Order: sequence, then C-alpha cells, then structure tokens
Amino acid sequence: MTTFSIIGTGNMAQAIGGVLARGGAAVQTVAHAETPTLTGDVVILAVPYPALADIATRFGAQLDGKIVVDLTNPLDFSTFDALVVPAGSSAAAELAALLPGATVLKAFNTTFAATLASGTVGGSPTTVLVAGDDAAAKATLVAAVEAGGLAALDAGSLARAHELEAIGFLQLTLAVSEKISWTAGFNLSR
Ligand SMILES: NC(=O)c1ccc[n+]([C@@H]2O[C@H](COP(=O)([O-])OP(=O)(O)OC[C@H]3O[C@@H](n4cnc5c(N)ncnc54)[C@H](OP(=O)(O)O)[C@@H]3O)[C@@H](O)[C@H]2O)c1
Repeated sequence: MTTFSIIGTGNMAQAIGGVLARGGAAVQTVAHAETPTLTGDVVILAVPYPALADIATRFGAQLDGKIVVDLTNPLDFSTFDALVVPAGSSAAAELAALLPGATVLKAFNTTFAATLASGTVGGSPTTVLVAGDDAAAKATLVAAVEAGGLAALDAGSLARAHELEAIGFLQLTLAVSEKISWTAGFNLSR
C-alpha cells in the first residue's frame, strides 16, 4: 500500500487526507512549523504557491526519490487577474526544477476542497486530473484517489500543468466573483 505525507493542515490537506484515508492509505500530516522525517512514498504539498520554494529548501534531499505532488494555483491574489508564473510555464515546472531528484506531479488544483470531500460536482463524481512525466507515479496517485472513491485521470505530461493551472485560475475567478459556488466547479464526463 502506498504511503503518503501531506505538508499543510488546511482545507486541501484535510480533504485530500480524507480521500486517501478512505482508500485505506497511511497518511502522515505535517504542520507548518514541523520538518520531520517524511514517511510517505508520495509527498503532497498542500500549501500556497509561495511556500513551494521554502519547502524545497527545508526538506531538500529528503524529497529525492519521492513522488511530490504540487496542487497550487499560482495566482496574483492582489488582482485575481493573472498567474504569477512566466507565460508558458507552471508552478509544477518550477517545483520540478527546484527538486531534480523528485518525480513531480500536478494534481488536485482543478478540484475545490469541498468537491474532494463530498466526492461530487454537480451530481457527478469528482475527477482529479493528474499530470506528470512518469507513468508509474501517475498510476500510483490515480489508484489511491480511486480507492478513496473519486475518479482520477492521467491528463498527460508535466507540460499539461500549464493548462491545469489555467483551468484552476479560471475556476477560482468564477468562485471569487460568486458566479459559481465553492462546492461546484468544472468536471469531466467520460
Ligand atoms: N481550497 C481549495 O479549494 C483549493 C483548490 C485547488 C487548489 N488549491 C490550492 O491548494 C493550496 C492549499 O490551499 P488551502 O485552501 O488548503 O489553503 P489553507 O487552508 O490556507 O492551508 C494552507 C496550509 O499551508 C500551510 N503552509 C503555509 N506556508 C507553509 C510553509 N512554508 N511550509 C509548510 N506549510 C505551510 C499552512 O500552515 P499555517 O496555516 O500554519 O500557516 C496551512 O496548513 C493552495 O496552493 C491553493 O491554491 C486550493
């Protein structure tokens, strides 16, 4: 059984931890002030985008050889009108450059915490989109999410993180402007 560490204790950490626990996975939760030995094969960074560089510095070599999941939506929260990563790039690509010894995946950024917790969006199963360059790593995360009762789909290479972050950005602007609720969002039918 795959083991997980989740860095962060906020909305996404709790929702994802709940999904993984429902699937029977062992989950270590790491609070902001802590830098413990990470026990998970998969480390989920459930933190704001600006925290990624700090975590890469603090945990450093501990993340070598692990699957590291980025779920950030790197918005300019002062304007809600732009992403702060360079055009064509992504937070996940930046994280992969900071952690050359890790296998970085992008996942969970297109699904609001409430839809991870409830398992539904508009009456359909919540689908977690997973991008990355390592097929086995993506299959590991997809299996754990599916075991927790949600749908999950391999969305392509880590380059697709750019598109996933665009979807996350748009979805956030719709919720912030109260055109959709935080229990709603984009979903995928197959
Ligand atoms: N909420 C959503 O529906 C949603 C959906 C898609 C993607 N996301 C993304 O998910 C991420 C987390 O969102 P959230 O809603 O869960 O936020 P949140 O409730 O504010 O939780 C953020 C967590 O990160 C911790 N943290 C902050 N800086 C840290 C650092 N340098 N090292 C370790 N831990 C640190 C915080 O600890 P303290 O509180 O102790 O500072 C807190 O536990 C964000 O990047 C967001 O864009 C959120």
